[in-house]
Amino acid sequence: MQVYLNGQYMEETQATVSIDDRGFLFADGVYEVVHLYRGKPFEWERHLARLHRSLAGIGVGGVSDQELTEARDRLVGDVKTEEAALYIQITRGTQRRSHAPPPAGTIAPTVLMWVRPVDPIRADLVQNGVAVVTTADDRWAKVWIKTIGLLPNVLAKGKAIEAGAYEALFVRDGIVTEATSANVFRVSGGEIQTAPVTNYILPGITREVVIELARGAGMTVVEQPFPIEALYGADELFLTGTLTEVLPITRVDGRQIGAGAAGPVAQKLLQLLRQRAGMA
Ligand code: PDD
Repeated sequence: MQVYLNGQYMEETQATVSIDDRGFLFADGVYEVVHLYRGKPFEWERHLARLHRSLAGIGVGGVSDQELTEARDRLVGDVKTEEAALYIQITRGTQRRSHAPPPAGTIAPTVLMWVRPVDPIRADLVQNGVAVVTTADDRWAKVWIKTIGLLPNVLAKGKAIEAGAYEALFVRDGIVTEATSANVFRVSGGEIQTAPVTNYILPGITREVVIELARGAGMTVVEQPFPIEALYGADELFLTGTLTEVLPITRVDGRQIGAGAAGPVAQKLLQLLRQRAGMA
């Protein structure tokens, strides 16, 4: 597999970064994951815009859209599978270890990009839904920055897997924020609800598209916080994310949700999303 690293294309095994890379030392960097459907990047402009917001959020400049788009096109040219993921990671760069970030523009950021095949979400998961557990959202207060510092997410995901579940839902002060790598929606009385965009969630691109698709299909969507208790009594729950697409949740903390299988709203929204991606 070819990767793009700092202006060059090389085999994955040849791509190395310094032990002084600030991404390695401090998780001082940001990333994006873009879904490629038959080689076509889904919602590229929105991913680019979010990447720039994240970069601005950590004060890193010097990355042009031209560089990213050229590398994207070259890497995408190698894709042989129906679906793939394009990963973009930008760290502040390499500098002898010091907490103090160097003045803006004095070191070159490390830019890494690769494309790997993804397996389409398994049909049985989409049909039967997945189990999740709830866990304390002990992340920082700038979750909108898509930082590579994902330790809380990693630990929460580990907790979910240990419990035999697929994902963990973060709960902050009794309010459900999102999952470790997806946003969360709830359906109750015909109304679709998801947490509003605040500093405490990642503003998911899929979340945004799903809201648009739902409204376009005449469904009611409210962006309002909901407490953990509202999970258990929901008619439907589902996750949204770049690789997750729309994935029903049918069990929370061991309790069955709704009918215990994919609900009609989640199924419809998945279908609309796949259509929008040119896959249905
Ligand atoms: N994760 N919330 C978190 C914490 C995420 O990490 C992600 C995406 C989302 C969904 O955002 P989007 O719809 O833009 O993918 C929400 C990516 C896919 C990842 O970490 O691999």
